[in-house]
Amino acid sequence: MPSHRVAVIAGDGIGPEVVREALKVVAAAGVALDTTEFDLGGERYLRDGEVLSDAVLDQLRSYDAIFLGAVGTPAVPPGVIERGLLLKMRFALDLYINQRPFAGTAPGHDRPHEFVVIRENTEGPYAGEGGQLRRGTPHEIATQGSVNTRHGVERCVRYAFELAASRPRRHLTLVHKTNVLTYSGDLWQRTFEEVGREFPQVGTAYNHVDAACIYFVQDPHRYDVVVTDNLFGDILTDLGGAVSGGIGLASSANLNPARTGPSMFEPVHGSAPDIAGTNRANPVAAILSAALMLDFLGESAAAATVRAACDAAPVGSTTEVGDAIASRVAAARK
Ligand code: IPM
Ligand code: MN
Repeated sequence: MPSHRVAVIAGDGIGPEVVREALKVVAAAGVALDTTEFDLGGERYLRDGEVLSDAVLDQLRSYDAIFLGAVGTPAVPPGVIERGLLLKMRFALDLYINQRPFAGTAPGHDRPHEFVVIRENTEGPYAGEGGQLRRGTPHEIATQGSVNTRHGVERCVRYAFELAASRPRRHLTLVHKTNVLTYSGDLWQRTFEEVGREFPQVGTAYNHVDAACIYFVQDPHRYDVVVTDNLFGDILTDLGGAVSGGIGLASSANLNPARTGPSMFEPVHGSAPDIAGTNRANPVAAILSAALMLDFLGESAAAATVRAACDAAPVGSTTEVGDAIASRVAAARK
């Protein structure tokens, strides 16, 4: 069986602990991964100043996928690792889709929901447009623009329509704030309507982002596929995790659907330095992220087995949960 070349960035805090369990489960699923560890993250930066050089970035380009645990250490100022490592990978590798699936029973509900958020992953306020003037004076100015290109919005919206068309409910909701962000909102809305004409079989809806926050909690069943911009998607997907069993279960795929380079797979949670090294982190988000990676690598049978084994995952330590899921996966293969 051909093996897939995967660059592993275990990272900081609980990253290495959850990555270990995820790779254990992939091995139990019978998929051979040819992994290379990359020592990157906050701890590495503190040691020798390396965040992600262009040379290392070029090495990453040659892999089939990148699997990331979590990066970030309290001793590093905000933005250094986020912008220099995570966002640099998302932008330079053109990982323009951030796909985050959610399934669970929200508090106060009696039946499970299942939906997926498609977050634009290379533009919006994350693009870094803006700057500061007269910093530290009473007249200081800070601007942070939101970049929305027709190309960037359209490829994201089209991906979301294609995904919705492939799912049984065939429904797509655009989330934005068109009543206030009238320039970018107009671009998103028009693009959504125009691309939507290519998908007459997909039903559509529009929610303002503040209303979507209410529906995520009170009526999550209304959603099938949700598409939104980078910052709204960042915030909404934490809420999605919170109403779907907790952020410890939330997985994500940073995709380059054009496959001009590797895609990157990571749990939504961060490095959780407060519980690092205590064997208490939930490895399920990382394991489900590995399942997304298996799907993208064409190993859909293994991905389905892994996902099924994560249903009603046992409660326990990081290694106990990983072991239990790995043995379920192994048993399912027999
Ligand atoms: C996420 C994270 C990142 C983001 C941070 C760490 C840069 O919150 O993946 O959701 O804002 O995208
Ligand atoms: Mn986030």
